[in-house]
Amino acid sequence: MTVPHLTGNYAPVTEELTAYELPVTGTIPAELTGWYLRNGPNPHAAASKHWFLGDGMVHGVRLEGGRAVSYRNRWVRTTTFTEGARGRDSRGNRDLVAGVANTHVIRHAGRTLALVESSYPYELTCDLDTVGPHDFDGKLTTAVTAHPKTCPITGELHFFGYDVFEPYLTYHRADAAGNLDVSRTVEVPAATMHHDFNLTAQHVVFMDLPVCFDLESAQAGTGMPFRWNDDYQARLGVLRRDDPYGEIRWFPIDPCYVFHALNAHDEPGRIVLHVMRYPSMWRADSHDFKQATLWRWTIDLVTGTVREEQLDDRVAEFPRIDDRLAGLDTRFGHASVSGSSGALILYDLHKGVSSAHEFGPGRIPAEASFVAADENPGGDGYLMTYLYNADSDRSDLVILDAGELAAPPMATIHLPSRVPYGFHGNWLADG
Ligand SMILES: [Fe+2]
Repeated sequence: MTVPHLTGNYAPVTEELTAYELPVTGTIPAELTGWYLRNGPNPHAAASKHWFLGDGMVHGVRLEGGRAVSYRNRWVRTTTFTEGARGRDSRGNRDLVAGVANTHVIRHAGRTLALVESSYPYELTCDLDTVGPHDFDGKLTTAVTAHPKTCPITGELHFFGYDVFEPYLTYHRADAAGNLDVSRTVEVPAATMHHDFNLTAQHVVFMDLPVCFDLESAQAGTGMPFRWNDDYQARLGVLRRDDPYGEIRWFPIDPCYVFHALNAHDEPGRIVLHVMRYPSMWRADSHDFKQATLWRWTIDLVTGTVREEQLDDRVAEFPRIDDRLAGLDTRFGHASVSGSSGALILYDLHKGVSSAHEFGPGRIPAEASFVAADENPGGDGYLMTYLYNADSDRSDLVILDAGELAAPPMATIHLPSRVPYGFHGNWLADG
């Protein structure tokens, strides 16, 4: 039987490589000194039952003064990797150390963390050695989403954990120094799947959507233990950041699913969210993916209603922004187009238009990170992504000028292997 999530460029690579002084076509901007790290599933000892469940492998490229100094790919040495999956301990408690750490890699308070929503973060070195699980000095009581948000104003890290047992949803905040200073339960009526959430300068917005824990699916063990539920009311939950233990106000919306939010911001009396919205998700089984497009949700805090508008008709995923503008009114965001012919789309949210860089047939980008060219948030920068070439069965790291998106890549860094399709990552500049 063909297993789509283990074939083509979804298939895992089998070796951990280290290569130095990589060949480059074009010119790497000389001001870029740091690491590009991207995480994704790469099943290790046995085939994974779902794309989301493979052991995490981070692929990293070091850039320095116009040179592509090195490439490494390394599995994250979680306890699941080294000892096998454990699930719950002898008392039935969830083992929050066990996990695959396969979804994102971020930096907060000097730590580089590999994340998956079902476990504690795992700290890595930039050379991609695993330091170990990170539980915020023993204070952390839940798993951690793979999509924490760093507030560019306060430096705080806002995040949540969700579980299939109560409490289903818990909100956390760590200060800029990495101290966990808020943890509170968010009441939801069922164990819904929360992959991402939204942060503005004044609010946190949870997305409580109709993909629910499903015991039959869990017992079948053939994928993710969640299914679409026609009877569950989709809702957005608004928490004021200045009252983190206060009431959460819920707003009903039309049924849908969202894995990823682009950004959100406050306006007088309103909160505006931009998200990649699916009409539904996992109706038949958890391998049944639909297609996402860019939508805007405007929460009217006065009338208690939400206006829902589709903004773009091109199917895309992995939305990102210049993260220095997280929670603020960003003009630009971008997302990746996969399928048979790859592209990166740049959304101009103020003008309501989009443009694209078309890579063409058989050339499929991953998530792209915005890489700042200077100290000016929202100013010049680059889009950086791994690009798979089906003809050569290899991958490159490509750097595009975000301001001249249709132009050929400024630099194409040729890697010694392919980088399997994966999830999320970041450019981590030195200093
Ligand atoms: Fe994600």
